[in-house]
Amino acid sequence: MKAAAALSALSILASAEAAETVLGAYIFHRHGDRTPKSLAPTNLTTLGYEQVYTSGQYYRSRYLTGSSKIRGINEDTVKLTQLAVTAPVDNVLQNSAMAFLQGLYPPVGQTVQTLANGNSVQSPMDGYQLIPVNTISTGSGSEDNGWLQDASTCGDAKISSNNYFTSAEYNNLLSSTEDFYASLVPVVNGTLNEKDVNYKNAYIVYDLINVAEIHNSSIPDSEVLTNSTLFQLRTLADAHEYGLAYNASDDVRAISGMQLAGEILKYLNSTITSGTAGSSSNKFGIQFGAYGTFLSFFGLTNLTAKNTNFTGVPDYASSMAFELFTNADVSGGFPSTSDLQVRFLFHNGTVSNSSEPTMYPLFGGNADSISWNDFSSGLSKFAVSTTEEWCHKCGNTTGTCAAYASNSNNPSTEQNSSGGSHMSAAIGGVIGAFVTLAVVLGSLAAFMLLGGFRLVSKKALAPRDTPVSETAANKA
Ligand SMILES: *[C@@H]1O[C@H](CO)[C@@H](O)[C@H](O)[C@H]1NC(C)=O
Ligand SMILES: *[C@@H]1O[C@H](CO)[C@@H](O)[C@H](O)[C@H]1NC(C)=O
Ligand SMILES: *[C@@H]1O[C@H](CO)[C@@H](O)[C@H](O)[C@H]1NC(C)=O
Ligand SMILES: *[C@@H]1O[C@H](CO)[C@@H](O)[C@H](O)[C@H]1NC(C)=O
Ligand SMILES: *[C@@H]1O[C@H](CO)[C@@H](O)[C@H](O)[C@H]1NC(C)=O
Ligand SMILES: *[C@@H]1O[C@H](CO)[C@@H](O)[C@H](O)[C@H]1NC(C)=O
Ligand SMILES: *[C@@H]1O[C@H](CO)[C@@H](O)[C@H](O)[C@H]1NC(C)=O
Ligand SMILES: *[C@@H]1O[C@H](CO)[C@@H](O)[C@H](O)[C@H]1NC(C)=O
Ligand SMILES: *[C@@H]1O[C@H](CO)[C@@H](O)[C@H](O)[C@H]1NC(C)=O
Ligand SMILES: *[C@@H]1O[C@H](CO)[C@@H](O)[C@H](O)[C@H]1NC(C)=O
Ligand SMILES: *[C@@H]1O[C@H](CO)[C@@H](O)[C@H](O)[C@H]1NC(C)=O
Ligand SMILES: *[C@@H]1O[C@H](CO)[C@@H](O)[C@H](O)[C@H]1NC(C)=O
Repeated sequence: MKAAAALSALSILASAEAAETVLGAYIFHRHGDRTPKSLAPTNLTTLGYEQVYTSGQYYRSRYLTGSSKIRGINEDTVKLTQLAVTAPVDNVLQNSAMAFLQGLYPPVGQTVQTLANGNSVQSPMDGYQLIPVNTISTGSGSEDNGWLQDASTCGDAKISSNNYFTSAEYNNLLSSTEDFYASLVPVVNGTLNEKDVNYKNAYIVYDLINVAEIHNSSIPDSEVLTNSTLFQLRTLADAHEYGLAYNASDDVRAISGMQLAGEILKYLNSTITSGTAGSSSNKFGIQFGAYGTFLSFFGLTNLTAKNTNFTGVPDYASSMAFELFTNADVSGGFPSTSDLQVRFLFHNGTVSNSSEPTMYPLFGGNADSISWNDFSSGLSKFAVSTTEEWCHKCGNTTGTCAAYASNSNNPSTEQNSSGGSHMSAAIGGVIGAFVTLAVVLGSLAAFMLLGGFRLVSKKALAPRDTPVSETAANKA
């Protein structure tokens, strides 16, 4: 039955895309199942490993061997110049990227190499392929941080997200959900302090319970945690996180989405440039990152306006893909830029042959694909792709940004926004630290929601080491 379904999916795919050639792709991917943020350091679980590995296998069959094969890409033995894999300095995301690559380019079998002295050596692990995962400074430690913008060093984004806590929307939810959260205290008071179980920590509370629902066999039977309670818990966490990740009238809040847009544009641009030059490099970009970046990006590209599902936190191992393709004849070489198109796909949770990604129109449109020119001008409206742009957007004027502060044509703007960042740093610190500390103090209590997890609090107590000298745009 499974084979039949796969076969029919394959034939549909083949007939629909017969005339088209995929020239490149960029994937942004969430990590797989992990331990809760409130018991940092977080780890990828076996389930999570399996999820991202499966996703890697799926994208292998889509882009390396299947009918949407990227033109000229190596099928079995990786060619490193064709690939760019990145993830922040974060164990869960780095490991997820590695697991994905194991599915994408599986071992090629043992090879034997003969050395000059006549000795021979065998490749370890059945020809396991070594593929570097480069780090990017965006989102460092994001899985250990309870507060969304803690993973960012962008001054103005922190102020902006903090402003969510003064919005009417937030305050209404904070007071109207008091009883709801109070009812959950007995479930989480082994890890969280009673006074912290409220809408202010909506995601932390949801995350802890969600992990227990997946891993603790006695929790799903809890009388408190009915399906409707769980749904409400998740919906509140969604509202909280979307509120921190995007605000249509205050766009810097979505800085991580802007940086992602810059990275997508840069990479696909390099695909076109190298293709036009007749080179066979830069074909497939893969980035692992946090759900906050998805939410910011969804808001910026107006996906949320047409489909409110996009305001919800994507499930573990979710991925979005940007396919660069053409319907033009490619036998004479790389097509001209005006013949290039881009398709956006998203899948909520692990992709597989039986659960494939779906196309969605970007920028509030209706078409399943748009021209490269429209795609790049649409993303360029908010994309942040250089350090200088980042510094201006974030109002940062010190460190790496000092170089650009004096270049400003309008020093008074600079002054104002840097004054703002200053204020925000304090507030940001307070809120960020508040959540972390509350969580740590709570978790020092002897009772734990999840048996078998040992506490390590030192790391969570210390401020995260964020590479101040680097900005997102700096990645090589
Ligand atoms: C940007 O400014 C904020 C607030 O002043 C600061 O915390 C952060 O470290 C700065 N980031 C960089 C890369 O300079
Ligand atoms: C969105 O930004 C506007 C303008 O800064 C602000 O008035 C509003 O409260 C913000 N809304 C939320 C939910 O943060
Ligand atoms: C958690 O709440 C329950 C019920 O209110 C109570 O019996 C228990 O002692 C609390 N545990 C902790 C660690 O506070
Ligand atoms: C709750 O949801 C689960 C999975 O979504 C389902 O299997 C179960 O039947 C639901 N329980 C009730 C009482 O609706
Ligand atoms: C790629 O980027 C360069 C530099 O920004 C730009 O001049 C060029 O037009 C871009 N190419 C395409 C195909 O968008
Ligand atoms: C939103 O998601 C639900 C559940 O996955 C689905 O049934 C519904 O069709 C989606 N809505 C839209 C507008 O896509
Ligand atoms: C993904 O699924 C979750 C529920 O598991 C939902 O809250 C969220 O809105 C979904 N997102 C999209 C884009 O469908
Ligand atoms: C998925 O389908 C492709 C054909 O489209 C097939 O080659 C591949 O083996 C399938 N993968 C799994 C895990 O079934
Ligand atoms: C987003 O899409 C809606 C229609 O779906 C449209 O009314 C709105 O103007 C769009 N916003 C932007 C910024 O493109
Ligand atoms: C900067 O602040 C000054 C005084 O607070 C104000 O008059 C001016 O309009 C501000 N400039 C900008 C660009 O916000
Ligand atoms: C599961 O949760 C229950 C209820 O909170 C707790 O008493 C128990 O220790 C947990 N068990 C495991 C194996 O984590
Ligand atoms: C994650 O793994 C580390 C060891 O690598 C362990 O110390 C820590 O307790 C684990 N975290 C959880 C929540 O299990």
